[in-house]
Formats: sequence, C-alpha cells, structure tokens
Amino acid sequence: MKTRIAVLVSGGGTNLQALIDANLQAGEIALVVSSRPGVYALERAYRAGIPSVVIAKKGSTQEAFEEKLRAALEEYRIDLIVLAGFLTILSEDFTRRYPRRILNIHPSLIPAFCGEGYYGLRVHEAALARGVKLTGATVHFVNEIPDGGEIILQKAVEVKDGDTPEILQRRVMEQAEWKLLPQAVELVSEEIRRSR
Ligand code: GAR
Repeated sequence: MKTRIAVLVSGGGTNLQALIDANLQAGEIALVVSSRPGVYALERAYRAGIPSVVIAKKGSTQEAFEEKLRAALEEYRIDLIVLAGFLTILSEDFTRRYPRRILNIHPSLIPAFCGEGYYGLRVHEAALARGVKLTGATVHFVNEIPDGGEIILQKAVEVKDGDTPEILQRRVMEQAEWKLLPQAVELVSEEIRRSR
C-alpha cells in the first residue's frame, strides 16, 4: 500500500504542483489542506482530482486550528504530512505526535536564514542583504524548533549580480525546491512503506 500523504499549503502551491507532477511511486497525495481560503494551491488540487479542505488559521486559536487539522488527517488516514509553503508554525504538542512524519521545504541552506519570521520572499531578501553568493533549499523533518529538525536533502543555488528577491526566489524554486521536495517525499514515503 502506498504511503498516504497530506500536503499543507497557504499560497500559490508551486511545490504542491511539483509533487503532483512527480507521479510519486511509494506515496500518493490523499489530501491537500490550506490554512487560507481562495489560494491557487486549492485550484491545483482540484484540477488534479485531490480532495482538499480549508482549515483557516485566521480568527482561530492554535489549539482549535490543530484540533481540526488532526481530525482531517485522521479522517483521510494520513501517514506523512508535507509542509509546502505552509505559513503556520505548528506547536510542540502537535509535532510531538508525528515524529519523522512531517517534512518541510525551506528556501535557504539551513542553518542560514531560517527560523521564526523567515518565510517566502523574506528569506531571499535576507540572503541578498547579507551578500551570500550561494543559497539554496532544504527539506527537513519538522520538530518543535522552527526549521530545526533533521535535514534530509539540500541543494545549493548561485546568487547572481543584480538579483532581486523575486528573481532569486524563482531560481531557488526552479533549480532546487521543485526537484528536492519530490525526491525527499519519495524517500520518506518508501521508508514508511517498508516499515509497515
Ligand atoms: C516556497 O518558496 C517555500 O520554500 C517557502 O514558501 C514558498 C511557497 O511557494 N516556504 C517557507 O518559506 C517556509 N518557511 P509555493 O506555495 O509556490 O510552493
């Protein structure tokens, strides 16, 4: 049986798209969860025929939000949770329940430019401000420390003269994120499948 995956999103969902297009062998995307209504990631799920739910973070307490999330994961019998541009930090109480069962993609070479407050374009703004010549992406397991869990895969990407945060973000996605995330999800899905 394939590993059942939930992809958690909050925005455009290009990493979700990369996972859909990868045609995973050991895993299948059984559910997409968005923390925001109306985002394009939901449209991507719909087009791919994947069930989706919106569990809004806005106006909800962390506890109530996580309670609903857990209920959805249970209902869809999810084995592996993939954070793909998911902008809500999960509590220790939540992450402790899923050891080595939550993955995150982060758009830098951890431990650079990571942790609370570093998400999306802000990561690339910080990299450019610091003047690094190499950046990249990291897929890691999620634990109670934001961006602090065990690293699974990393890929470096060159920073070029004249880069804007948007240009750099696009290069990191194309050259690193969209390749790395499917690879890591395949690896972990296979590991879970074998462990059953
Ligand atoms: C991606 O670059 C992802 O690495 C980043 O948000 C973007 C989401 O894009 N995640 C973080 O910064 C997490 N700290 P997408 O919705 O098109 O996949």
